[in-house]
Amino acid sequence: MTTERSSSGSQHPKRLVFAPGDIQGPNDGGQDIHNIKSAAAHLAEDISRSDTSTPTSVMQQELVSHPARAHQFVINPPLTIAQLHPTNPLHQFHRWFQDPRIPRSSAPETCTLATASLPSGRVSARMLYFKELDERGWVIYSNWGSKEGKGHQIFGSGFAVSADGRTPGDIHETAALNEGNRWAALTFLWSLVERQVRIEGLVEPVSREESELYWRTRERGSQIGAWASWQSKVMWSAEPDTLPPPEELGHADYDDGRKELEARVKEMEARFADVDEIPLPPFWGGIRVVPESVEFWQGRASRLHDRFRYVRVGQTDHAAENFKWRIERLSP
Ligand SMILES: Cc1cc2nc3c(=O)[nH]c(=O)nc-3n(C[C@H](O)[C@H](O)[C@H](O)COP(=O)(O)O)c2cc1C
Repeated sequence: MTTERSSSGSQHPKRLVFAPGDIQGPNDGGQDIHNIKSAAAHLAEDISRSDTSTPTSVMQQELVSHPARAHQFVINPPLTIAQLHPTNPLHQFHRWFQDPRIPRSSAPETCTLATASLPSGRVSARMLYFKELDERGWVIYSNWGSKEGKGHQIFGSGFAVSADGRTPGDIHETAALNEGNRWAALTFLWSLVERQVRIEGLVEPVSREESELYWRTRERGSQIGAWASWQSKVMWSAEPDTLPPPEELGHADYDDGRKELEARVKEMEARFADVDEIPLPPFWGGIRVVPESVEFWQGRASRLHDRFRYVRVGQTDHAAENFKWRIERLSP
């Protein structure tokens, strides 16, 4: 029997990365660490040298006999219920978000938004910057108009707006949501403080006034960009084996689709040349993720993390204000 078989679809596909990260545990002795590092270095060399092989069984044996340590979470004291906001996960999020140990330059507002298509259930996720936290939830801004991206998943196929804003439809009309999948999840990672926050809930559009207000804070170039981009539309593609040779691709004039975007930018600059305040596109604006559950995760040594989750109880109507939060500790 061989473990050397490779290529996709095989039982042991070729590894490109194996156990990356901080392999030094907090209490490692010097010799152990040396052995682990040397085994890992061999493995890395082997992987980068070869196009086809998986690590040899000898190397695997070497690694297993000196277990590599993935990143250890060590900086936080225990997280207990006494440190959590007793009634409101949004306030708890605010506390963590304001933690002075997190530099603003690390963009703690960065999060992942996950959405899913109906009826297939196919999931997609992308990074976003959240822009507002209010008493109802987290607000993010985007282009929801294309048939290709998250807009289609959330607003559904019946909701049509075109990138030039000339086709009717406005994301701020709640009816726009009727055919989509309103369930979404947001995840924040603040690795410097070894914390994660996971939010699951239902999406609702913010009011047009709220979107307008944020739109006006954007610089003119970004406003033009929002009008110009049909977000997530395919602008160029190459079928297998039809790519021109590298020298042709590397030519400064070779158009791999960017020119269409630049032409659209020029078009929009001309369209709004005499307009002081560029209007909010109907396909662009804010949505709020209104939470059903919010989990606060704090890393602890040996993967024995502290996890607390707030779950909405007592009121299934999402628009209702009179609900409470149950708090649960989750097993790590
Ligand atoms: C750090 C970071 C922040 C981003 N912030 C936003 C954002 O606030 N709004 C947005 O529409 N796209 C943002 N993007 C781009 C999205 O990840 C994504 O490419 C885009 O929204 C298209 O997603 P879709 O194809 O699912 O519609 C950001 C990307 C990164 C890497």
